[in-house]
Amino acid sequence: MDLLQYKPKAQFAQRHLLTLQDYTPDEILQVLSLAAKLKLQRKLGMDQTHILRGKNVALIFTKPSMRTRVSFEVGVQQLGGHALYISGPEIGLGTRESVYDVANVLSRFVDGIMIRTFHQSDVEGLAKYGQIPVINGLTDDYHPCQVLADLLTLYEHKGALAGRKLAFVGDGNNMANSLMIICSKLGVDVAIATPAAYAPQAAYVSWAKENAKAAGSTVTITTDIAEALRGADAVYTDVWASMGMEAETEKRARDFADYQVNSAVLKLAKPDAIFLHCLPAHRGSEVTDEVMDGPQSVVFDEAENRLHAQKAVLALLMGAR
Ligand code: CP
Ligand code: NVA
Repeated sequence: MDLLQYKPKAQFAQRHLLTLQDYTPDEILQVLSLAAKLKLQRKLGMDQTHILRGKNVALIFTKPSMRTRVSFEVGVQQLGGHALYISGPEIGLGTRESVYDVANVLSRFVDGIMIRTFHQSDVEGLAKYGQIPVINGLTDDYHPCQVLADLLTLYEHKGALAGRKLAFVGDGNNMANSLMIICSKLGVDVAIATPAAYAPQAAYVSWAKENAKAAGSTVTITTDIAEALRGADAVYTDVWASMGMEAETEKRARDFADYQVNSAVLKLAKPDAIFLHCLPAHRGSEVTDEVMDGPQSVVFDEAENRLHAQKAVLALLMGAR
């Protein structure tokens, strides 16, 4: 499959991006296809400012961010729109003002919302009560924008996605959940290796298994890193203590001590496997410098692809057509 030749069937205008579980495989491929096209156009110096001309997008952050903030601000600007950064305390979502009221007021001012916050229910509330598209820029449960960039990166380095294998090592967190969802939708075998107490929640695993059944791929949840990495085309890890869990950092460092991706662990995957990390990385904890800076690491391609994947999402959900 060539993403640049992909012929989409999906309709996106005014939809949301909340979990990706409600997107069909065709819709996900359409996002990736447009991301690849926008990336190529950008590299060729083509103008893209007609796509969001005159559109305003609110970017709400109640958790820290570097990549998500910068890539959305730059992405909106490259598409000719205007992005407004709104910090958590400023908006006081659910405290200063109800989610219902925020959704309705923002719907009168802007053309779309991107939000990074703790509770998935707040993101879904904005989508439910407002009249404009809402994009999830990370919650405690999901990180759909990140995994779109991740699968674009896997495609760029390995070609056709279906039949590939991605292994995730570490915490059964928002990244593990979203990777399980997108991989299982696209027929990529996914294996998650975590300490038993940190396995992903059963509800997300069962969604992924249902998706994988339809796609003809597999979902494996294990405590055994070697089992997860066997035959893997991509090895992925993430911090052991996600944002909001900083108080557990020391306990988690002990609990995850055997789950570091180092050179010996990376050798358990295919010899040409790529290494992925959503970043920020805690070098020396979940990953070593040797792996981060080694020949198999494509983490900066992956970070760049946040920009292209999110531009595709913005264009499809709120762009001119
Ligand atoms: N990967 C990612 O979302 O990075 P930030 O937390 O810096 O936005
Ligand atoms: N699991 C991490 C991802 C950061 C992009 C967190 O939620 O902090």
